[in-house]
Amino acid sequence: MENVISPNIIKNQESINKDKNAGKKLFIETYGCQMNVADSELVVSIMMDNGFSTTDEINNADLIFINTCSIRDNAEQRIRGRLQVFKKLKRTKPELLIGVIGCMAERLKEKLVEEEHLIDLVIGPDAYRDLPNLIKTAESGQKAINVLLSREETYADINPVRYSSNGVSAFISIMRGCDNMCSYCVVPFTRGRERSRDPQSILAEAKQLVVDGFKEVTLLGQNVDKYNWEDKKAGSTFSFASLLEEVARINPDLRVRFSTSYPQDMTDEVLNTMAKYKNICKHIHLPAQSGSTRILEKMKRGYSRQWYDSRIKSIKKILPECAISSDIITGFCTETEEDHKETLSLLTEAGYDMVFMFKYSERPNTYAEKKFEDDVPEDVKSSRLTEIINLQSKISVEVNKKDIGKTFEVLVEGVSKKSKDELYGRSSQNKVIIFPRKDYKKGDYVNIKVTKVTSATLIGESI
Ligand code: SAH
Ligand code: SF4
Ligand code: F3S
Repeated sequence: MENVISPNIIKNQESINKDKNAGKKLFIETYGCQMNVADSELVVSIMMDNGFSTTDEINNADLIFINTCSIRDNAEQRIRGRLQVFKKLKRTKPELLIGVIGCMAERLKEKLVEEEHLIDLVIGPDAYRDLPNLIKTAESGQKAINVLLSREETYADINPVRYSSNGVSAFISIMRGCDNMCSYCVVPFTRGRERSRDPQSILAEAKQLVVDGFKEVTLLGQNVDKYNWEDKKAGSTFSFASLLEEVARINPDLRVRFSTSYPQDMTDEVLNTMAKYKNICKHIHLPAQSGSTRILEKMKRGYSRQWYDSRIKSIKKILPECAISSDIITGFCTETEEDHKETLSLLTEAGYDMVFMFKYSERPNTYAEKKFEDDVPEDVKSSRLTEIINLQSKISVEVNKKDIGKTFEVLVEGVSKKSKDELYGRSSQNKVIIFPRKDYKKGDYVNIKVTKVTSATLIGESI
């Protein structure tokens, strides 16, 4: 019986923590992808339940968290640089606690505290519920480490605190982890096994966001097409297309976005659902990684160039107004000039609206690191990257030019950085549009006629 803790005792413990931490300030900095942004909102929620408040002023902090990314070596180097700054601060303020959380914490585990003395906490992405205990351990002067990955954790019952949000659009995490094991990728190691979150809790979160005045949600997962909720009692399953439809039906004024789609798994059912609802935004991020089937095989992506082309064709057929974006890795192991040309031809044929482009960065313990040689010289990687960036920037301008004269419904996100007299927002296609402010404000839907374009932005007038 001694293992049974009554709910009252737990409650009391919670309020004791809250009192003890009252007035303590957390400074949190987030790197990496949207999943990390969403996770930081969970972390802040858990910390606030334990009496902490957040601060934007690092000098006022009692605790600093850095939510980290391991996707490429340069991402980790940037974080190491920030750690030097935090450590310097701690030398002048010894009671300050520093915690490394997220993907780099998971990848490096206790090695992090060995390499970077003065770090007090190392917490992996599935261990955030343990934060109150870990903080206590750290406060007692011991190193606090929890990097256990979970097969079930989805934080479904934790209400994210949108501490740095614009109040217009919010992320909703619908699944965690990744089972794809692309040969270059560290994510399956840092985020563990793929698992879907209970749809009821997703819908409840979206409904609450509407009540709180939000106008847009983005459903997040490393491969949203694999979203699958099994209702064991009912003996039924719930797919991504069904989830998308349910979220879209909450409110026609709530825009719905999602990321990331996976070429192998993206179904026409999802495309048809997108076509059915005006408020499901017409933008698909469908990372190709390479235009060469041989390289795709080595990357273990599970599709060929031909298959990828056929998915693009389906999108263009079912959703003629849909924008498509992509990710490309250049200089992957054994990539030849021939392979590179196929990537160039992919960019041209797909006619992407936008592409994120990266040089291959070998990640420790991945399949590629173990089995292949990182044999494309750095200068070749660089020149190929420059070439694809230059080509894509021309393509983006050409694609954007087709928008001149068209009218788009823009959801206003805020005042333009360049001028107080201009607002910016996004079209359904996820393009940033800048236009004269007039009496419009953040959160409004405004019809904008496009008059000018660059490779990254559209400029227009309200009509
Ligand atoms: N789940 C998403 C990608 C998440 S990571 C998907 O599969 O599409 C975001 C992007 O980082 C990837 O699409 C890929 O282009 C890039 N990336 C991942 N690992 C990389 C590595 N080792 N080197 C360079 N870029 C990498
Ligand atoms: Fe990484 Fe591939 Fe998973 Fe994307 S789908 S996170 S690239 S393993
Ligand atoms: Fe980086 Fe982790 Fe996201 S490695 S890209 S923060 S899942």
